[in-house]
Amino acid sequence: MKSVIVAGLVFLFSVSLLNGCAEDPVFTTGQEIFKRYCATCHQQDGNGLEGAFPSLHNSEWVQGDKGRLIRLALRGMQGPIVVHEKPFNNVMTPHDFLENNQIAAVLTFVRDSFGNDADAVSESEVERVRASLTSDELFVASELEGLLGIPEE
Ligand code: HEC
Repeated sequence: MKSVIVAGLVFLFSVSLLNGCAEDPVFTTGQEIFKRYCATCHQQDGNGLEGAFPSLHNSEWVQGDKGRLIRLALRGMQGPIVVHEKPFNNVMTPHDFLENNQIAAVLTFVRDSFGNDADAVSESEVERVRASLTSDELFVASELEGLLGIPEE
């Protein structure tokens, strides 16, 4: 009898431990969206491909201004950019076909992965940036540098 109680307690303890470790659902959704849409170019490990796709590891673009990151994800980017001292001059396609909550989830995932450590992106932040976009042309890096922040609600 005693061993049954002990086994029961051990079981309950393990379940609570597992629950404690369960990933945040937004992070998990973001990870799935990343695998499906971003990994094609930036690779599953976020390392990108030399000369073609920049790495997302410890990236100032990922961890820096949220408004700039959301604009980049929604509208894409082209033209010269230097990431970790490596030059790129390629095209990132727009992702404005994704819902606001999907963009928020994938950006929350990258801001907390690949050595990045920055706060989450909310659905409302994506919504406000999307509403402020005036054209659907690709951004160039230099243009994005001057477009920081998220419009007020
Ligand atoms: C079609 C390939 C492609 C896809 C898909 C793509 N990217 Fe990119 N991404 C690029 C390229 C190319 C650049 C650099 C653009 C340039 O040369 O101006 C870039 C630049 C970036 C940058 C800024 C530089 C850096 O490395 O930090 C971030 C952040 C980024 N992408 C995130 C994403 C996220 C998040 C997704 C998925 C929602 C995504 N990308 C999907 C090709 C892609």
